[in-house]
Amino acid sequence: MKVVLFGATGMVGQGALRECLLDPDVESILAVVRNASLPQHDKLREIIHQDVSDLAAIEDRLSGYGACFFCLGVSSIGMKEETYRP
Ligand SMILES: NC(=O)c1ccc[n+]([C@@H]2O[C@H](COP(=O)([O-])OP(=O)(O)OC[C@H]3O[C@@H](n4cnc5c(N)ncnc54)[C@H](OP(=O)(O)O)[C@@H]3O)[C@@H](O)[C@H]2O)c1
Repeated sequence: MKVVLFGATGMVGQGALRECLLDPDVESILAVVRNASLPQHDKLREIIHQDVSDLAAIEDRLSGYGACFFCLGVSSIGMKEETYRP
């Protein structure tokens, strides 16, 4: 299976990435990140893209995948309700 992963630099995403790299059923991982920062690996490719609210520019590169892990986000830990709201 081919996997797309968002948030690979975060705590949750790093765990998902590690498991995908170890899993023989995952043949490749495409990580969508804001900055180049991931380790080199034969199974791993990255797309650098800043605005996840608009994927139009990379849309054609996101087809043909069997799973998508959307692990990005901001933790609510320690935040007041007003701050957490968009
Ligand atoms: N940690 C937990 O135990 C836990 C449990 C349940 C749910 N969650 C949820 O899982 C999500 C991730 O949590 P985490 O602990 O992994 O957080 P984290 O370590 O702070 O990582 C956040 C990730 O999201 C990316 N990100 C944040 N804002 C972004 C934006 N505007 N555009 C693109 N990428 C953005 C970061 O990318 P950069 O590296 O580019 O900043 C990073 O990859 C959150 O929604 C959190 O509420 C976490």
